[in-house]
Amino acid sequence: MALTAVLGIMIVVSTGCSKPEPPAESTDPVIVQGKALFATMQCSNCHGDGGQGGRAPNLTAIHKSADEIAATIRTGIPDKMPQYGTKQKPEEIAAVAKYVASLQTP
Ligand code: HEC
Repeated sequence: MALTAVLGIMIVVSTGCSKPEPPAESTDPVIVQGKALFATMQCSNCHGDGGQGGRAPNLTAIHKSADEIAATIRTGIPDKMPQYGTKQKPEEIAAVAKYVASLQTP
């Protein structure tokens, strides 16, 4: 009896800890730059601070690669999202795409 009680408590404790943690703050300089660009390129105006969604979809669960995200940023989405390919340097688009890719939660 005592053993099952102990096991029961252990199960409760371990499942209580299994909640996914938000991704740790990155120290990768490209991601740090991308995070700053996410604000200055005004992505956050539509997608929210941290990309968690606002007027535009949440970007933390799109499961796309940095390359796919960069392509969306370059070309934009007609009538929905501006295109950045003509006004932003390719390396800036790559940095913000890498930042958005880093936000993905499993
Ligand atoms: C004017 C508002 C606006 C701005 C500014 C904006 N977006 Fe978007 N974005 C949208 C909308 C709306 C959609 C969804 C379009 C649709 O419904 O297909 C979208 C879609 C996306 C997608 C595709 C999501 C998916 O599910 O595949 C990505 C990635 C993305 N945005 C990233 C960015 C980044 C990075 C920036 C800044 C460089 C940015 N957006 C700036 C409005 C915006």
